[in-house]
Amino acid sequence: MAKLERANFSSKLGVILATAGSAVGLGNVWRFPYMTGENGGAVFILIYVVCVLLLGIPCMISEFIIGRHGQANTARAFHKLSGGTPWSIIGYMGVLTGFLITGYYAVVAGWCLEYIWASFIGQMQGAPEYFKTYFAEFSGDPVKPIFWTIIILGITYIIIEHGVRDGIERASKLLMPTLFLLLLIIVGASCMLPGADKGIEFLFKPDVTAINSNVFLAALGQAFYSLSIAMGCICTYASYFSKQTNLTKSAVQIGVIDSIVAILAGLMIFPAAFSVGVNPDSGPSLIFITLPNVFQQAFSAMPLVGYVISLLFFLLLSLAALTSLISLHEVSTAFFHEELVITRKKAALLVTVTTCIIGVFCSLSLGAVGHSLEFFGRSLFDWFDFVTGQIFLPVVGFLTCIFIGWFVPHKVVHDEFTNWGTLRGRFFHFYIFLVKYVCPICILFIFLHQLGLI
Ligand code: PHE
Repeated sequence: MAKLERANFSSKLGVILATAGSAVGLGNVWRFPYMTGENGGAVFILIYVVCVLLLGIPCMISEFIIGRHGQANTARAFHKLSGGTPWSIIGYMGVLTGFLITGYYAVVAGWCLEYIWASFIGQMQGAPEYFKTYFAEFSGDPVKPIFWTIIILGITYIIIEHGVRDGIERASKLLMPTLFLLLLIIVGASCMLPGADKGIEFLFKPDVTAINSNVFLAALGQAFYSLSIAMGCICTYASYFSKQTNLTKSAVQIGVIDSIVAILAGLMIFPAAFSVGVNPDSGPSLIFITLPNVFQQAFSAMPLVGYVISLLFFLLLSLAALTSLISLHEVSTAFFHEELVITRKKAALLVTVTTCIIGVFCSLSLGAVGHSLEFFGRSLFDWFDFVTGQIFLPVVGFLTCIFIGWFVPHKVVHDEFTNWGTLRGRFFHFYIFLVKYVCPICILFIFLHQLGLI
């Protein structure tokens, strides 16, 4: 096979922003706030942060180790480290998970674009019922969501096709600071509303009576999803890290950035929701139904501010989705590029077209074609969500920990962990303890819980 020159990120900032871009996504802005709302506010946040630190970060370091050691796409990286034993199947599963998620994640990312457009032309105004109907009609439409899915995948293609430095890294350096800025502007506006203090209190005052085993498992599942673990993304990006990248420090920095964005997203949503008396635990429809209404009501005295905030909010959501989509797309692009030995451009095109097809079917399954894309009572869209998020993610995560903790020689892990002895690696034994015992056991619990077995 021809020797391919391996690209890498040009700087530490590039590493952090690109990987944080993968982690910061719809999970932070959409899923985290409603899970916080449903699971007792501040208690959930506290448990979540502990899960990120003790479980999410060690898993992320493991993927860093595999990716950087392999200097190749996720499947090949596992293959190399396992010496060609059946453990390499985990790598293939990771790539497959990333590939399948790309299609349906693009559909939701496309919705965000539609909402930017709708906000822009002033359609995000009306009675509370209006927002419900708008979303139902839009998501069940046969053409509109597909149009937006194609647009977002097209944008992703252009970025990916430019390569690791000129595409992914450059886009992340532009998009991530913009995302932060938008977040701060909306948090500021939301926290200045009358009655906002109740929302802030809800977010930061722990309600210990809400603690139960479900809260733990929900926090754990959210931590994994939010850090993009077990989907091939982290491993693929790590293959572009240089030998000098401090893996532990980077993982901690990314975990911290990701958690800060999630908490800020809560600060953006709850104060506004409380100020107009809307119940914060509104489930997944929070973003596309409840929030446009909340923003409109909260700023009813200043309609122009309401208009701008709604527009900026959906822009923020789209940017968050786009940076995650780029990392998902890159998993399969790197795989096809290296395994089929085709140019990066061709590989990217192949991924764009195939994931577009998946996206089209997922989108159509949400109503446009009646029940014909429904199987065993679930739409195709829900099946993708279920199989990737609740089956593949925990299985790949679990096996990755077992692989690193029990199978790979600790000398190899130690070399990567300490950059070949140039770093002190004080936490190495603690890290090994976590990936060997604590992480697999906890992942097993989430898995069984999600399947309703415990
Ligand atoms: N971490 C992303 C989020 O919070 C979701 C994601 C999962 C992205 C897996 C890439 C891979 O939305």
